[in-house]
Amino acid sequence: MEIKKIIVIKNEEDTRRFGIELGKNAKKGQIIGLVGDLGTGKTTLTKYIAEGLEIKENISSPTFTIVKEYKSGRMPLYHFDVYRIGDPEELFNIGAEEYFDGDGVCVVEWADLVAEEMPEDSMYIFIEYGELEGERIYKCTF
Ligand SMILES: Nc1ncnc2c1ncn2[C@@H]1O[C@H](COP(=O)(O)OP(=O)(O)OP(=O)(O)O)[C@@H](O)[C@H]1O
Ligand SMILES: [Mg+2]
Repeated sequence: MEIKKIIVIKNEEDTRRFGIELGKNAKKGQIIGLVGDLGTGKTTLTKYIAEGLEIKENISSPTFTIVKEYKSGRMPLYHFDVYRIGDPEELFNIGAEEYFDGDGVCVVEWADLVAEEMPEDSMYIFIEYGELEGERIYKCTF
């Protein structure tokens, strides 16, 4: 996978700016895979993408459901967290293909765990911790 840009995020405010911009520019059918260790800020970034989509609801990690739908914004947001998925094939059981081909934006936390099932044209952000507190390195395929 080709990394097109590397962004140094200094603090959560930078994450917010980045996420809002991504949400504002999001097109329907767009799929954003987030890959990064525990606590790197995948859910936090998703919240800010939601803010850019003008979603009013509070975003929380979809721990028990794999996917949560938010429909109060400019377009639907389908937020996946596949951390606890046993088998990537489970994605088919929850109808992931319909979300992927759907009318909204899909954000997939831990996309690396379901790499085989991710659509070909997905965008990815690989998130790493930086050296300082609050710092993150975003490696983007777009
Ligand atoms: N630059 C930053 N971007 C995002 N979150 C940050 C940043 N700096 C500090 N944080 C903090 O790091 C934490 C990230 O938690 P979050 O739940 O978003 O991570 P996650 O990657 O979704 O974790 P998990 O793997 O458990 O799903 C939050 O408490 C957030 O406030
Ligand atoms: Mg999370």
